This record gives sequence, C-alpha cells and structure tokens, in this order.
Amino acid sequence: MTRRPLIAGNWKMNLTHVEAVELVRKLGAALPDAVHDVVEVAVLPAFPHLHPVRTVLATEQLRMVHGAQDLAPQDGGAYTGDVSGPMLAALGCRYVLVGHSERREHHHEDDALVNAKVHAALRHRLTPLVCVGEGLGVREQGRHVEHCRAQLDADLTAVTPAQVAASVIAYEPVWAIGTGRVATPDDAQQVCGALRERVAERCDAATAGAVRILYGGSVKADNVAELVARPDIDGALVGGASLDADEFSRLCAITAGRYRGSTDEHS
Ligand code: 13P
Repeated sequence: MTRRPLIAGNWKMNLTHVEAVELVRKLGAALPDAVHDVVEVAVLPAFPHLHPVRTVLATEQLRMVHGAQDLAPQDGGAYTGDVSGPMLAALGCRYVLVGHSERREHHHEDDALVNAKVHAALRHRLTPLVCVGEGLGVREQGRHVEHCRAQLDADLTAVTPAQVAASVIAYEPVWAIGTGRVATPDDAQQVCGALRERVAERCDAATAGAVRILYGGSVKADNVAELVARPDIDGALVGGASLDADEFSRLCAITAGRYRGSTDEHS
C-alpha cells in the first residue's frame, strides 16, 4: 500500500483574512494538476480565515484542502473563545492540528487534553494531525525517541486502529521550529520510523503501514526532497515557508517530483 504524501501549511497566527484569500489564490495559480495528482496539499489558516478561504477554494475549484489549527475538546456550550469540532466540520475542514508544541507551551496543553481533542476531531470526521516532538533538553539527553513515543501513546489513548490509520502524525522537534535549524533527514527518519514501529506495536502492521507521518520544523523547498526521500516520512508540516506562495508551491512540486521518481520507498 502506498501512502499519499501530504504537505500541510500551518499559517499560525499570521495574515488578515484579505491576505489569506490572496495567498490561497496565488497558491491555486502556482500549483498545477500534476502536483495535486501526487501530493495532497492542505492549508491551515487561522479560524477567522476558514470561511473566506473555503469560499475561494470552492468557487475557483482549487484542489487544495483546508483545516484548522486547533479545536475544543467539547462539542459546544459555555466555553468562551473556543471553537468546536462541529463548527469546523460545517466549514468543510478536512484536517485539524492537535497538540502543536506552541499550544502545549503557550496554552499549557497536556497529553490528556490533546487526547480529548483527538477524540473530538474523530467524533466529527475531522482528521487529526497529531503533533509530537521533543525540546532541546530532551534531545541533548538522547531521550527524544522515548519522549515522542510516550507522547504518541498518551495522545492516542483509546483511539481504535482504524481511527489511527485514518489520522496523521507529525513529528516536530521543538528546537527545529521557526529556528532555521532543520533536523537532519537521519534525525527525522529515526523518530518517524520509531513512531511507525510504535503504531505497529499498539495496533498492527497494516495500521502502521497506512498511517501518514510528517516531519515539521524549518522545512523549505531546499531541504524537503531529502526529508521525504526517507521511508517513514510521508510529507511535511510547514510553518514559515507556507506563507510564501512561490516557496510553498515549489516545495509541493519538489515533493511530487520525488514521489513520482520513487513511490516504492514509501510503501
Ligand atoms: P517552521 O516551518 O516555521 O519551522 O514551523 C514549523 C511548524 O511549527 C509547523 O507546524
């Protein structure tokens, strides 16, 4: 079974809704069908931009999909400022990021909350993009694999194998996010491979073979080819470089080219 590569642009807390629409239009113009035929391209704008971005994607028949950067664990009620799974589903979101390190750090999200959010996403047929990753201290102690494995175990508590297979895991070492310091392809493969092994242990080999695992952290057009060439890296979660239409479309095209050349490595 071949996993379809995914390149997801996490726009974080950037752009006005007007700029977001402009960016998605530019991306639509820059990404040919030949790229979409191979790579799934997703954009993850801030909440207020979801509706206008969705409208442009639909009216201009662009082949990108969209998703959100977070969701509440509850489905509705007195939770001022929060955004629920049903709201995101109604906006046509396919994906939702869960457990991004910036949420863990700035909003003190722990694995129990991340797990509740994974279940909230799955309840509403949103695909959770579950983020794990170690900080610099853990990496320097050489405990990064066990750290990420433990996060994955906790974040996927009571998630069925079928649900895991339909989810996406993202390995984002915190020390590589927004720093320009990309993990080497070997570093990224080591953890992504260990995460896939962990899925095989928790679930079964078929689930491990189906689940997509992305790398994120200072991914650019210039370094994506080597990363996605690794057998357990099925695409990228891209921050800064996703805000530049030329850079992001180049990154997607390079990924498509790499897969067209060697799909058997990712099977
Ligand atoms: P950068 O690509 O800017 O390092 O951000 C990575 C990230 O956090 C994507 O979710």
